[in-house]
Amino acid sequence: MLTTILYRSHICEGITVQAVEEMVASANGKNSHANVTGILLYNGTHFFQLLEGPEENVKEIYHHICKDSRHYNIVELLCDYAPARRFGKTGMELFDLREYVHEDVLQRVLDKGTSRYQLKYDDRALQFFRTFVESTEKENYFEIPLADSWEFVADDEVQLLPRQAEVEDDEFSFAFQPIIDPLSREIVALEALLRARDGKSPADYFASLQGDALYEADLRSKRTAFALAAELGLKDHPLSINLLPLTLVKIPDAVPYLLQEIKRFGLIPDQITIEFTESDVMSRIADFNRAVRALKAEGLRVAIEHFGSGFAGLLLLSEFQPDKIKINRSLIQDVHKSGPRQAIIQGIIKCCTSLEISVTAVGVEKAEEWMWLESAGISAFQGNLFASPALQGIPLILWPEKNTNY
Ligand SMILES: Cc1cc2nc3c(=O)[nH]c(=O)nc-3n(C[C@H](O)[C@H](O)[C@H](O)COP(=O)(O)O)c2cc1C
Repeated sequence: MLTTILYRSHICEGITVQAVEEMVASANGKNSHANVTGILLYNGTHFFQLLEGPEENVKEIYHHICKDSRHYNIVELLCDYAPARRFGKTGMELFDLREYVHEDVLQRVLDKGTSRYQLKYDDRALQFFRTFVESTEKENYFEIPLADSWEFVADDEVQLLPRQAEVEDDEFSFAFQPIIDPLSREIVALEALLRARDGKSPADYFASLQGDALYEADLRSKRTAFALAAELGLKDHPLSINLLPLTLVKIPDAVPYLLQEIKRFGLIPDQITIEFTESDVMSRIADFNRAVRALKAEGLRVAIEHFGSGFAGLLLLSEFQPDKIKINRSLIQDVHKSGPRQAIIQGIIKCCTSLEISVTAVGVEKAEEWMWLESAGISAFQGNLFASPALQGIPLILWPEKNTNY
């Protein structure tokens, strides 16, 4: 299938124009052989390239390009399919933008076009050319350093050092995972993640329950979370727990029960955030909103987790504004390489900033993901890069430090 890939990247220091021209000459032969077209724009700091041709060949060449050490911060902007080539001539063509005025270079690129219609009507690929040439998206290019420019090291000075606790409960257990602000070296909160005592996943355990027993078990489990938090000496650190939205809707005494258990273990409502999953919320939004009002009236905070993964998306925020949203791992994964993910996360951040909703990135596993998200304006992170969940305990936290050998 005829495939188009567009990406942008940053040239590495020390690569001369002559070296770029030599690379283009060699790539010209390879592209022609593979029946691929490569239109490369260069503006002195950034590359922008369109690759067009048979899917397998385009993907194979792009795979090599991604590993090329002459450039970095390679961000895929578009991967799309078309009925015909925009640029019929295979091979490689370089446009050094510094040698043209904007209109000229776009015209020159268009002149290379051979498709009858593709370049005439609104074409996404062509719009990308335009934004690159006119630099209108440049403020969204976050130039992140290489992953090994940071080391992740433990710190004995932090208030919550690793420790374990035990509470009597043969039904539930919890693992704790911190949410941190890595640059301020602060623990923002700890999340208590439900684990079944018998080793089953909480999903299996809940699936074995019928009717309201599910919601009763969900609510009852929170008592164990509060008991463990108290045993672990959480003191005034914020604590996040998860609740099924329908637990709040179906169990009339859910809020008084939560308050009673929070107080029983010496915690205060203001330090507790209740996290709900986005997709479940929308199914009973009116009832849910009513129940949340009762929670908020007692001082508890509310977060939406897995934001961006369900069907409600931004519509949910028009119905209900939580104190916090947690962006799902599926959007965080390899965000530094993906134009669409970057655009979505920037949209979420912009929207949440306007609504004064704080944003946490969840499931952060790579230094590059964290660096990109910090550059985009997120400061709260949860993920194995910093700390994996510890069963019945507080895990070791690894804090980023600039690599002095770098
Ligand atoms: C910005 C940029 C664009 C490139 N475009 C192409 C291209 O269109 N086709 C190609 O074969 N190589 C291209 N290359 C070179 C490849 O990255 C790689 O060096 C080449 O495919 C040879 O790969 P190999 O040494 O692993 O065999 C490009 C390199 C850079 C830095």
